[in-house]
Amino acid sequence: MSAERTVSGSAQAQNVAPSAGGNTVLSLLNIESAYGPIKAIRGVSLQVPRGQIVTVLGSNGAGKSTILKTISGIIDPRKGSVEFNGRDITAKDPAFIVQQGLSHVPEGREVFPLLSVRDNLLMGAYTRRNRDDVARDMEQVYGYFPILKERFAQDAGLLSGGQQQMLAISRALMAAPDLILLDEPSLGLSPKLTKEIFEIVVRINRERGTTILLVEQNANMALNAADFGYVLENGRIVMEDTCARLREKEDIREFYLGMKDAGVRGERRWKKKKMWR
Ligand SMILES: Nc1ncnc2c1ncn2[C@@H]1O[C@H](COP(=O)(O)OP(=O)(O)OP(=O)(O)O)[C@@H](O)[C@H]1O
Ligand SMILES: [Mg+2]
Repeated sequence: MSAERTVSGSAQAQNVAPSAGGNTVLSLLNIESAYGPIKAIRGVSLQVPRGQIVTVLGSNGAGKSTILKTISGIIDPRKGSVEFNGRDITAKDPAFIVQQGLSHVPEGREVFPLLSVRDNLLMGAYTRRNRDDVARDMEQVYGYFPILKERFAQDAGLLSGGQQQMLAISRALMAAPDLILLDEPSLGLSPKLTKEIFEIVVRINRERGTTILLVEQNANMALNAADFGYVLENGRIVMEDTCARLREKEDIREFYLGMKDAGVRGERRWKKKKMWR
């Protein structure tokens, strides 16, 4: 899937940065976000073109999750603006932002453990009125992840880590979003499961046209799946390019895909927090 994806990705095919296109779904301008005195994001600007997969790469603590939380309204930025589908959503209520068509799959695959798989999926669709559409989307989700259909009546808390990640992605899909924010889907999963999940993410993008903003430490998977990438270090974007070109860059190859200890700006590599399941 990845080779095909990178060849046909439209930003790469046209060799342009996403900001050059007119059809931008999401745009961040100079975002600064902090936790009390800790500045996590220091002036981040990025664009996500409609129909593409855009990735933000960065090691532990770079600020990846903070970017997504700022977009989905979980935390309010100190400065800057977030525009979604041409509308200013800066610091808006998270429920309002979901209703606009933007779903967030948070880090650590949060599911409702005491609800069944099916009820978790229905929670994702709670604002939707057309039951036929919801039923159709539920079948589509079961098509992507057949294990969820097999387990539809089981408590979500009893699923494996990988299955919970599938459920978290599926719940986001049940809101029929234009844009999905995906926070480290590979976290804690085996390479095989990670590959499977990334293949489905690419299919969702291709088949449904859902735009995806993916943050990852797993640069290898992310650069193969996405069209365009940003590299985040210490809360700042230090590099941006098509994924095809990022894969060829020496410092990306050495730091994110390989063995070197120093990042693009001398950042130390952090010990990965991966746990196997
Ligand atoms: N709730 C919080 N309170 C205080 N500081 C926080 C909080 N959440 C994150 N931070 C800090 O903000 C910075 C960015 O954290 P963030 O979670 O966005 O990083 P990340 O790139 O998602 O890292 P990881 O790959 O480990 O998930 C870090 O220095 C982190 O310690
Ligand atoms: Mg994170």
